Amino acid sequence: MLFGKKKSVAGLDVGSSSIKMVELQGKMNNLSLLSLGFENLPDDTIVDGQIMELNVVSDVIQNICKNHSISANQVVTGVSGHSVIIKNIILPSMGSDELEESIDWHAEEHIPYDLSDVNLDYQVTSEDSEVTQVLIAACKKERIDNMKQAVQLAGKQPVVIDVDTFALQNCYEVNYQPDESQVVTLLNIGASTMNVNIVKGTRSLFTRDITVGGSQFTDVLQRSLGLSFQQAEAVKRGVAEAAEGIEETAIEPLMDNVTDLVAMEIQKTFDFYRATTDDSETVVQKILLSGGGSKLQGLAEDLSAKLELPVEVLDPFRNIKVDTRKFDPDYLSEIMPEMAVAVGLAVRGVELR
Ligand SMILES: Nc1ncnc2c1ncn2[C@@H]1O[C@H](COP(=O)(O)OP(=O)(O)OP(=O)(O)O)[C@@H](O)[C@H]1O
Ligand SMILES: [Mg+2]
Repeated sequence: MLFGKKKSVAGLDVGSSSIKMVELQGKMNNLSLLSLGFENLPDDTIVDGQIMELNVVSDVIQNICKNHSISANQVVTGVSGHSVIIKNIILPSMGSDELEESIDWHAEEHIPYDLSDVNLDYQVTSEDSEVTQVLIAACKKERIDNMKQAVQLAGKQPVVIDVDTFALQNCYEVNYQPDESQVVTLLNIGASTMNVNIVKGTRSLFTRDITVGGSQFTDVLQRSLGLSFQQAEAVKRGVAEAAEGIEETAIEPLMDNVTDLVAMEIQKTFDFYRATTDDSETVVQKILLSGGGSKLQGLAEDLSAKLELPVEVLDPFRNIKVDTRKFDPDYLSEIMPEMAVAVGLAVRGVELR
């Protein structure tokens, strides 16, 4: 086809609490939002990162595509959590063929799984006459197969399986175009996982996925106050009727305990990071926050105080044109935190076209 439309590749974020899809059009520095969909998943559809109910996930993907006229047959999706291992490793300087031949051997000591059980990918991030720095990413094959199955069952072709934390970074780069001296922490608080990615300019210095997230707050309310999941979720989101009959003094300390845990895990991540760098050029300047879990009332302020860093909300549409006749700006700003990873996956989709 001579003047045919370029095939679109959508971003598909299968989270443990909901599925988000984003389709972008245009060129890298001139992107616009073509379509967007977001639907919740029933509780326990995804447990510990594993899709337990493949049919439920594929039905929701199909529904989103139908309801939001998403026509892309190809998708970029992402994985996160324990089954993903990301490391920056430093090797003696070597040519690309030599690196390709020896990468398994070098990676082995950094990956806590048998190499035959993982898919391994790597990228050279810097090199000079003495050392080559390589970013390696490995994911358990069973996790990738599980994701592929759900996507294929929905009639879509998974062309790339990315890593959520790098999708988040892609979203940041497109929207913020950071200069090389800026060191920020991208923090995506989902339902069951927090992705932390410390980046300098467009380079990832340190990443860690922590299996704590918004669902921890809901769990605690549910168990301690004897509520149903829906009730606990509503109380957490500050729905006044849901909290009727429950003392405010019973809720607050429960929530504060989880906030402390969240802050402590991030602090630990900063400590690990500092132990690997001693350069004053790599001091984190601020946190850019995303993920549905970050919408908890007061959480951004609490994290800022506890971690002694400015915290800003990441805007995944900051540099993407949005037609306000097609997308309600109020709705968009409400779901903005949840869409960051999906936007990053969609950006990857644009790069592939
Ligand atoms: N207004 C709100 N107040 C508090 N929490 C909220 C609010 N809105 C959403 N959440 C929480 O955000 C979480 C979902 O966020 P998100 O969609 O980013 O996660 P996910 O991608 O499904 O999960 P994960 O990436 O961890 O697998 C849930 O725990 C939900 O309760
Ligand atoms: Mg998520």
